Amino acid sequence: MAFTKKTVRDIDVDGKKVLMRVDFNVPLKDGVVTDNTRIRAAIPTIQYLKEHNAGIILMSHLGRPKGDGPEPALTLKPAAEKLAELTGYDVKFVADTYGDEAAEACAAVKPGDILVLENVRFLKAEKKNDPEVAKKFASYADIFVLDAFGTAHRAQGSVVGAAEYIPAVAGFLLEKEVDTLTGIFADPERPFVAVVGGSKVSSKIGVLENLIESANTLIIGGGMAYTFFLAKGYSVGKSLQEPDWIERAGEMLKKAEEKGCQILLPIDNIVADHFGEDAEGVVVASDAIPDDMMGMDIGPETEKLYCDAVKGAKTVFWNGPMGVFEIEQFAHGTQAVAEAIADSDCTSIIGGGDSVAAINKFGLASKMSWISTGGGASMELVEGKALPGVEALLDA
Ligand code: 3PG
Repeated sequence: MAFTKKTVRDIDVDGKKVLMRVDFNVPLKDGVVTDNTRIRAAIPTIQYLKEHNAGIILMSHLGRPKGDGPEPALTLKPAAEKLAELTGYDVKFVADTYGDEAAEACAAVKPGDILVLENVRFLKAEKKNDPEVAKKFASYADIFVLDAFGTAHRAQGSVVGAAEYIPAVAGFLLEKEVDTLTGIFADPERPFVAVVGGSKVSSKIGVLENLIESANTLIIGGGMAYTFFLAKGYSVGKSLQEPDWIERAGEMLKKAEEKGCQILLPIDNIVADHFGEDAEGVVVASDAIPDDMMGMDIGPETEKLYCDAVKGAKTVFWNGPMGVFEIEQFAHGTQAVAEAIADSDCTSIIGGGDSVAAINKFGLASKMSWISTGGGASMELVEGKALPGVEALLDA
């Protein structure tokens, strides 16, 4: 699907100052970045701007500070240092976002310079999308670039606000993410198989309902499968369940049938009598889960069924684990499906969140076609929602 917004390619950045919102919300341990994926993902746009003689001012949030001022544990300085290390560029950092120090540092930015501002969420006004904050941001630069796909679903000052006052375009990461994730609805190579797991139907129902509009097959795994079992009249014992969502789950199954989307639910399961590292799993059929047991993973027959479906696909979208993959004896289903996706020559698109953690745990990241850098943002997009950050950009 063609991206419908202007990007950095469509605007003259030569000699201009560019304020670029990135998502450097990265994990830190003792002040050191432990996963630099999101920083690396922003580099192509940074590089392009630098090579095209723009002065670059980067801003991002990190974590969820209270918003009452600086919190040293959530400073963006380590992210700025990581960017310098990864690119070899000289990257300056200013420990301010809205004050005189930030304004002076932005005023001093020359073509080719890179400056990183402090965590935008150190002030509450950012989250409220206060127009004063937006105007302040806009005053720093000539052009606004949004490349923070992971945050594009937040209508906050640094994401949507500045776009009201200066020309606003997308960066390459945002463009690629939106293109890829909306592409599964536009014109996927078929068969298109969607694999959705995770614990709750309630948090993924919009995603499931939208996927049945496009997918040839929808595979359901993880804790959410048990609410679907209830909709089919099975008992689920002590398994995760959402009684308020049984009806909607049942409706979705019916709708999928009408649309010609095949739904695959587990036919067998690994169950245990309690949740924990020491829990022992046994295999039971889906219509025979004992009252005192809870589902922890898909069973071996299901694993084969799911892997075969994935092997025959030309496009696979995956979000959410098949079981409690954090516990070794219940990781098998998730690992098997992840390996089947990795080994197939399909286009594999991985929605953010737990599935990314699972893929990294099994060392399969390099074998996937696209791994989204957004958790909530990728889910909202797959749900069919418009992302406020993207909406705020200039139309192409
Ligand atoms: C994320 O990690 O999903 C994004 O950076 C957004 O963070 P938020 O959920 O704190 O807005």
